[in-house]
Amino acid sequence: MKETVLKKFEEVFGDTEGVKVFFAPGRVNLIGEHTDYNGGHVFPCALTIGTYAAARVRNDKKLRFYSMNFEQLGVIESGIEGLKPEKEADWTNYPKGVMWAFGEKGFQIPQGMDILLNGNIPNGSGLSSSASVEVLTGAILRDFFGFDVSNQDLALIGQYSENKFNGVNCGIMDQFAIAMGKKDHAIFLDTADLSYTYAPVKLEGAKIVIACSNKKRGLGDSKYNERRSECETALAELQKVVDIKSLGELTEAQFEEYKSAIQDETRVRRAKHAVYENQRTLQAVAALSANDIALFGQLMNASHVSLRDDYEVTGIELDTLVEEAWKVEGVIGSRMTGAGFGGCTVSIVKDEAIDSFISQVGEAYKAKIGYAADFYVVEIGDGPVVL
Ligand code: GLA
Repeated sequence: MKETVLKKFEEVFGDTEGVKVFFAPGRVNLIGEHTDYNGGHVFPCALTIGTYAAARVRNDKKLRFYSMNFEQLGVIESGIEGLKPEKEADWTNYPKGVMWAFGEKGFQIPQGMDILLNGNIPNGSGLSSSASVEVLTGAILRDFFGFDVSNQDLALIGQYSENKFNGVNCGIMDQFAIAMGKKDHAIFLDTADLSYTYAPVKLEGAKIVIACSNKKRGLGDSKYNERRSECETALAELQKVVDIKSLGELTEAQFEEYKSAIQDETRVRRAKHAVYENQRTLQAVAALSANDIALFGQLMNASHVSLRDDYEVTGIELDTLVEEAWKVEGVIGSRMTGAGFGGCTVSIVKDEAIDSFISQVGEAYKAKIGYAADFYVVEIGDGPVVL
């Protein structure tokens, strides 16, 4: 891949003088969905698939971007001053947002850059191709300009850029999982205070399989921000009767005790998901460390049911993938992953069942939905690197 991006860089920008190659992963969340903006826990891991970049500093103030994933867009140019989101800037709003965010945090970008990207995460799949580009951009800026920022800072700056520049009110999970990724480990992150531990993912005799629904969506046009504000309203209602800062502070029993303070049935279900999903995540991490993969899988399944029925972020594509997966012998657990509304599912599948999983779920999906799903047997990888 290093050679591929260097070759293309030369073709697009003329030569490879001063170029370095970087990589940042994508991520998959094993459990703890829609909990990160509710002060709860998440349990994601970085993948070995992700985004590659060839980049260099220029002697002027110009920015030139090129993506091998959107070749039809050609080279997209702008200046480094007065950065603002523009529709015609398309995907470059992600790297530009990060450059803007560095400036906001006191790290001025002194010179322009040429940046070429090539990702092998399916775009819009819910495996965080945008957060991957954000963390990757941060790693590039840090390397070339010597900014004193940690990987955790890269996550926070990435999230800041997504919230304030690109207008998606996302939580910290994606950028954190990508910036802090560790091979063969999932990250058990408490989003209330960003404390975290790495948990080894030892699935003896089984693998993580991702099924991509190929239903495209962007968080900007999804109901993501709506869910977030429903939870905020429910929290404000609960705060009238119980002293909490976030939904993640409640146990299931406390939620049941106080839920009548929420004035709307839909909001009760939204908040219930946030509370119960957080508790499921705690149980799942304990199950994994006790090597109880069967229980881990059952909790994944329960997570999907809650996202389907109470949080209502699944849809027929993700439900079909998961419900068909549950029918396959050798599937330990299966659920949607990421924001939902399209995107991917994550399943833990016994080695000997992977082929039948892909063919059975794939055929049933195509028959019901009308187009094919894609399947990836994935590995857990590290955070951003200079190659
Ligand atoms: C998206 C957001 C994350 C998180 C998930 C849902 O991936 O970017 O912050 O909220 O959805 O768990």
